[in-house]
Amino acid sequence: MTGTRRPLLAANWKMHKTRTEAREFVEDFLPRLKRTDADVVLCPAATALAAVARALEGTAVGVAAQNMHEEQQGPYTGEVSAPMLIDVGATGVVLGHSERRELFGETDAALARKVPAALAAQLQPILCVGETEAERDAGETQRKLRHQVQTDLAAISVDQLPGIVIAYEPIWAIGTGRTASPEQAQEAVAFVRALLGDRDPGAAERVRILYGGSVKASNAEELLAQPDVDGALVGGASLDPAEFAQIVAAAPARG
Ligand code: PGA
Repeated sequence: MTGTRRPLLAANWKMHKTRTEAREFVEDFLPRLKRTDADVVLCPAATALAAVARALEGTAVGVAAQNMHEEQQGPYTGEVSAPMLIDVGATGVVLGHSERRELFGETDAALARKVPAALAAQLQPILCVGETEAERDAGETQRKLRHQVQTDLAAISVDQLPGIVIAYEPIWAIGTGRTASPEQAQEAVAFVRALLGDRDPGAAERVRILYGGSVKASNAEELLAQPDVDGALVGGASLDPAEFAQIVAAAPARG
C-alpha cells in the first residue's frame, strides 16, 4: 500500500530569512528541482509568506505557515488566522511543532481546535508529534505519540484524515545533529500509522507521515527509503537550496 502515497518534502525555515533572502532561495532552488512525482513545500516565516507565494506562482511548490490561531479573527494580539494565511497565498500550515509546544506553551487542547480550523479553511495541516529524550529513555515514546495523535485529531473525521500530514519529530533529534536511525524512524512512523489505523485502516494507509529531526543530504536517502516514511520535515538543512534539492531528490519514487 505504500505505493499510493506521494512523497512530501517540507522545508521548515523557522525564524530565518527575510523576504529578499527567501526570494533568493526560490530563484536558486527552482532550477534544481527536477522531479514532478513528489510534493515540495516551503515554510517561511510569516513575514515572507506572501513573497514566497508570489515567487512560486505557476510552480507546483507549496507554501505553508509555521503556526496559526484557531479563530478566524478576534482579540488575539500577535496571532495570525487561517483566512489571513490563505490571503497571502499559503497552502498549508505546520501545527504543533515541538518548538511551539516547548518554548511557547502550545497545548494539545489548542491543537485539537487548530487542526480542524486549518482543514475548514482549506489549509493542509502538517501536525508535528514526538517524544523527548527522557520519554524515550523511560520507554514512554508510544504513550506520548498515542496521547498527541488521539488528542490533536479528536475532532477530525475519518473522511478528513487523509487530508492531514503528520510529522514524527523526536525532540532529541531536532537541531541536534543526532538523527533517529532509519529503524527508529520507521518504527515510530509505523506506530503512528497503526494509531490512525485504529480509527480506519484504509484512511491510515493514505495519510502521509514524515520524519523530521536533523535530516540532511547525507542521511536523507536511508531515512526516506523506510516503507512508512513518506517524506521529511527539514529544518537547518533546508536553509540551503542546493542541500534541500538534494534531499528532495533522495526520496524514492512511489505511486
Ligand atoms: P532540524 O529541524 O532539521 O534542524 O533538526 C527539523 C524541524 O524542527 O522540523
